[in-house]
Amino acid sequence: MDVAFSLDPALPKRRGVEQAIRSAAAQGLLPEGSRMPAARELAADLGVSRGTVVAAIDDLVADGLLVTRPRAGTFVARTPTTVGRAAPEAAPTAPRLDLRPGRPESGSFPAARWAAAVRRAASTALMTNPVDDDGAGSLELRTELAAYLARSRGVETTPASLVVSAGYRSASTVLAVAMRSLGMAEVAIEDPALPGIDHLWRSAGLRVLDLPVDARGARTDRIGRDTDAVVLTPAHQFPLGGALDAERRRDVVAWARRTRRFIVEDDYDGEFRFDRRPVAALQRSAPDQVVYAGSVSKTLDTRLRLGWMALPHDLVAPVRASLLTLTGGVPLLDQLALADLIRSGDYERHVRRQRREYARRHDVLLRALSRVGVPVPGIPAGLQAVVPIATALRPPADADGQIRSGDFVTHSLDRYTRQHAQAPAAVVGFATPPRGTFGTAIDALTRWLQQDPR
Ligand SMILES: Cc1ncc(COP(=O)(O)O)c(C=O)c1O
Repeated sequence: MDVAFSLDPALPKRRGVEQAIRSAAAQGLLPEGSRMPAARELAADLGVSRGTVVAAIDDLVADGLLVTRPRAGTFVARTPTTVGRAAPEAAPTAPRLDLRPGRPESGSFPAARWAAAVRRAASTALMTNPVDDDGAGSLELRTELAAYLARSRGVETTPASLVVSAGYRSASTVLAVAMRSLGMAEVAIEDPALPGIDHLWRSAGLRVLDLPVDARGARTDRIGRDTDAVVLTPAHQFPLGGALDAERRRDVVAWARRTRRFIVEDDYDGEFRFDRRPVAALQRSAPDQVVYAGSVSKTLDTRLRLGWMALPHDLVAPVRASLLTLTGGVPLLDQLALADLIRSGDYERHVRRQRREYARRHDVLLRALSRVGVPVPGIPAGLQAVVPIATALRPPADADGQIRSGDFVTHSLDRYTRQHAQAPAAVVGFATPPRGTFGTAIDALTRWLQQDPR
């Protein structure tokens, strides 16, 4: 069993270990009947003594969550839903084999490290941090981000050109309002793309031009004469999975420079390229025309709601103003916790660890699909892959793009398309299942692909 237990530093050690095991069980990481790691291993993982682990295990045995069998080891006796006090409100049950795209690996969040960073921030930050009331976000975080984005993605920016947002969608809302206030009227957006992103821009009063995507990426030749900005995922098209080819990269940058229009670069998973160092951000070739946007949604957890934009000079003041009036800014303690993680190197270590895990999963997925004769287009990168499916497996229009079979669930590509139809396919998120269930999820997927639907 390879489970990342995380210890809450705020708890006494014995309670902390007990809580770490309970929470892993509650997340489905410890299925009934599975064998617990040896106390010595757990102690080393959690940085506590073996005696503390043994005491916590005794408590959980007394509680009925674990059972000890002489000479065999300690096992998970019951799932936590049947153990302990009833939850005050039933949490929505996640599908067991979740292959929907979007979220990083369940249980991978460095919870103990984050908790320590928040505690540190909480004990000093509100006293010592300058009041940031210009909408840009914490200077401490922007300073760390400017250096991190240069190292990891080749982004050319400064703390003064960065703003912190509550993730990419919040950043886009603010950007759209700022662009509209500058008189911009039309935005071109890849089709397919993140669901709802067209609606977001329309809500701010802009016209949306649907930009088709082919094997070489977005059709940049279809950008309109009146297009003021184009939203692209150049490193790894979402959700089709190709990279924008070199000629189109050059063309779109030349267009932005020539017409003094803008590119919005959504670099949602740029850290996760498996076969080579990722191609540097497009922003680097035209910092005055490209808005570079990123977030922690794929690296840490989508629910943290933390992201950033590196802005061209002309957009800094209008975007800061919109951010402040529309959102009031981003919670300071979370910004400082992220700054702490980046400064210590723990953020990059976490990204590297997850990159290795996603590379391994990508490989397992491709090999499993090639055994059943299904080719996967796109580059080896990211957290999702498009898997072609038989027409008869395409879910009906009223299924909201959901594909369900037994206890596995994934998405149909139809969920992401607007005007430009694509061949039937599933968009498989291979990052989310906890390590213990990933193989089962891939087996369920291949079985579903092979079924005769008639
Ligand atoms: C294409 C794309 N862009 C951006 C994001 C990140 O969005 P946010 O930061 O709002 O979670 C995602 C994640 O779901 C995505 O799929």
